[in-house]
Amino acid sequence: MDIKALVSQMTLEEKAGLCSGDDFWHTKAVERLGIPRTMVSDGPHGLRKQDDKADHLGINDSIKAVCFPAACATAASFDPDLIRRMGEAIGDSCQHEQVSVVLGPAVNIKRSPLCGRNFEYFSEDPYLAGRMATAMIQGVQSRNVGTSIKHFALNSQEHRRMSSSSEADERTIREIYFPAFEMAVKEADPWTVMCSYNRINGVYASEDPWLLTDVLRKEWGFRGYVMSDWGAVSDRVAGVAAGLDLEMPSSGGVNDRKIVEAVKAGKLDENLVDQACERILKIVYRYLEKAKPDTPWDQEAQHALAADIAAECMVLLKNEDDLLPLNKEDEIAFIGEFAQKPRYQGGGSSHINSFRTTGALEAAKDLNITFARGYSVAKDEATDAEIAEAVAAAKKAKAAVVFAGLPDSYESEGYDRTHLRMPDCQNRLIEAVAEANPNTVVVLHNGAPVEMPWIGKVKAVLEAYLGGQAVGEAAVRVLFGDANPCGRLPETFPLKLEDNPSYLFYGGEGNVTEYREGVFVGYRYYDKKKMEVLFPFGYGLSYTTFEYSNLKLSADKIKDTETLTVTLTVKNTGSRAGKTVVQLYVGDRESTPIRPVRELKGFAKIALVPGESKEVSFTLDKRSFAYWNGQIHDWHVETGVFDIEAGDSSRNLPLKAEVTVESTAELPRRYTLNSILMDIMADPKAAPLMREFMRKTRETFGHSEKEGESDAAKEAITDEMNTAMMNYMPLRGAFSFGGTSPEEAEELLKKLNQ
Ligand code: BGC
Repeated sequence: MDIKALVSQMTLEEKAGLCSGDDFWHTKAVERLGIPRTMVSDGPHGLRKQDDKADHLGINDSIKAVCFPAACATAASFDPDLIRRMGEAIGDSCQHEQVSVVLGPAVNIKRSPLCGRNFEYFSEDPYLAGRMATAMIQGVQSRNVGTSIKHFALNSQEHRRMSSSSEADERTIREIYFPAFEMAVKEADPWTVMCSYNRINGVYASEDPWLLTDVLRKEWGFRGYVMSDWGAVSDRVAGVAAGLDLEMPSSGGVNDRKIVEAVKAGKLDENLVDQACERILKIVYRYLEKAKPDTPWDQEAQHALAADIAAECMVLLKNEDDLLPLNKEDEIAFIGEFAQKPRYQGGGSSHINSFRTTGALEAAKDLNITFARGYSVAKDEATDAEIAEAVAAAKKAKAAVVFAGLPDSYESEGYDRTHLRMPDCQNRLIEAVAEANPNTVVVLHNGAPVEMPWIGKVKAVLEAYLGGQAVGEAAVRVLFGDANPCGRLPETFPLKLEDNPSYLFYGGEGNVTEYREGVFVGYRYYDKKKMEVLFPFGYGLSYTTFEYSNLKLSADKIKDTETLTVTLTVKNTGSRAGKTVVQLYVGDRESTPIRPVRELKGFAKIALVPGESKEVSFTLDKRSFAYWNGQIHDWHVETGVFDIEAGDSSRNLPLKAEVTVESTAELPRRYTLNSILMDIMADPKAAPLMREFMRKTRETFGHSEKEGESDAAKEAITDEMNTAMMNYMPLRGAFSFGGTSPEEAEELLKKLNQ
C-alpha cells in the first residue's frame, strides 16, 4: 500500500478525523478511499475486547478470554522467553478477534509500593522492566499484531493521574524512567506507544515535543504511531505538533475541528497532520495486509499455558525446616476464601473476563484437603466462628496453608494505596492458624508488597502475586512439589512503608510530584543506605540448592567502546531439578556523580538437574557502566574501577571481580575563576598545567610563612591538612594569593579549558 499516495488523496477534514478514534476502541474509516477502521484493545495480560458498552476502566464486561499472570507476576519469572510465549498467545487471540493492537505492555517504574497500578507494571528496576517488555512485544508482534508500550512516561502514581506533573531531573529520567521504553523501542520495534496522562516537568506527555519527537523518534528511532492514553489530550493542536498521532478515544469531532481550524489559520503545519496520518495508516495496513481472522484461539490450551507461566512466577519467600513441598499423602488444611476464589488480577482497564478460573481448592480436589473459608473478602471480616473453624481445621491437619492477600478494593487502577497492610481480619487469621499448627504456610495473592507482621510465626511464604486465571493450579503444583519455585522478587519488600525512598514526596503536593529521591529507587536506595529490608530485590528460594563459582572476566581493563564478557558457572547441588536466576550487577567504585552501589545489568534463568553445571555468560557494554551526564546530555563512563558482582539476589552476591574501564570521551572543560583546585587537580589533563603554574608562582614569589604564626601552629598543620584545605580554594583565590595578573590568569584558564 502506498500510504503517502493514500494520504495525499484525503481532505484536510478526513485527515484531521483520522487523528482521533472513531469510538472507544476503533481508528476511523475513510470509506470514500476504502480505508477500513481497525480495533485496539486492552491489554496487557490478556485480551479485553469490548463489543458494546465500552469503557476504559474495566467496568463493563468484555468477551470471554484468558487472563494470564499480571506483570507483577511475570516480571518475577525473570524469564523473557516465557513472557514471549505469553505474548504469542495473546497475539493469536487478537488475530482471532480481529484486534490490530493490544494495549500493553505497561512498563512504568515502581517508584513506591503504593502505586495502585503496580500490579500492571514490571519492576522497580528499569533493566528488568525493559527486558520483559521487549520479549512481550516480540511475542505479540510475531503474530502480526501491534503492541502499545505504555504509559510514556513517568506515570508512577495514580493519585491525580490526569493532572499531576512528575518532576524529575534529566539524569533520573534517563537512568530510571526511560530505559524500559528505550530498550523496547530499540530492540522490539513496538507498533505504537501510548503516552501517559500526567505532565512531565509541567508539560502534558500528550503534547511534549521533547518526549514524543526528540527522544522517542529522533534519538531512539521509533517508527510507529503514538496514541494518547484514554482522555489524556489537553491541547490537541499542540499534540499534533509534538508528535501525538492518534487521540483516543473519540473526541466527538471537537478536536478534529480544532486541527482543521489551526491548519487553516496557519497555526499548524498541514504536513504534520499528513505525517500523523501516514504513521497511523502504516500500522493499520501493516495489520490488515496480514490479518488472519481464521487463527484458532484455543482457550483451553492457553489456560494450560497460563498455569505453566504462573508456576514459573511464584516466589518462595520463606521455607523454614523445608516445610515445602508438602506431602501429597498428608492431610492439609486449606484456609481462606482465596483458596476457593483466588485474587488473580487487578481492577481497571486490564481486567479480563476470564473464561475459567481455577482456585487452589479445585486444583487440589484429588488430594487430602480440608477447607475453612476463614474470612469473607466481600465483608472484609473474619468472624469468631470462621476463625474457630479455621483453627480446628489447622489443628487436625499435618500442615495449614492460608491463602491470603489483598482484596480488589485495596489496589486498583485509578487510585493509590495509603498503606501496605493486609486486611486486619486476614492478619488475625494467619496468627491464629499459626498458633494452632506450627506448620503454617501463607500463599499471597497481591499485586504489590505488603507488610507481614506474622512473618516470624509462619514457616513458609509463597508469593503468588496476581497470577492469572490458572493461579490455583500453579500454587498447588508448587506447594506439593510438582513444580519447583523459581521466581525472584522484581521489587524490594521494605520492612515498612516509611523506609521507601519516595515516602516523603510520593503523591506530591497538589498537582506537583517531585521525584526527589532521584535515581535512588528501590534497591538502589536500600543498598546505598545499607538498610534492612523484609525481602530484597531479586530474592527467591528454591527446593534445591545452587552453587555459583568461577567468575571470569574477558579482560581486567577495557575501553568504554569495548565490551566485556563475564562468565561464571552455576551448579545444582541439591536433589531436585530446578531453576535459578543468575543476576549480574555493576557498580562504579568511586564516581563524581552520586551513584547506586550496584545496578542490575544482566540476568539469566538457568534450568539444572541435580548435579548438573552450566556456564553462563553475559556481555557488558558501555551502557552497563555509564551514567547520564547532564553536561553533555549523553551517557558517559567515568574512568575507574567497577565492581562486577554475581549471585542469586541483590543481597546475595558471592562472586565478585573488578574491571577498570577507561573513558574514551572527554567531557568539555569549563573552568572559570570560581573553579576549585580539587576539581582541576582531579582532571588528568588540567592537573599538570596547574601544578606547573603553581611551581612557577612559588619560584617567583618565594614561600612565605604567615607572619606571627607560632611554631605549634605550624607543626599542627600537616601537609595533608594543607592539601585538604587548599582543595576547596577557587582559582581566583589562588591567583590573588599568588599575585597573578589578570592576563596570566586568563592565559592559564584558556590552557586549562583546551
Ligand atoms: C488506561 C490505559 C488503557 C486505556 C484503555 C486507560 O484508563 O490508563 O492503560 O489502555 O484506559 O482502556
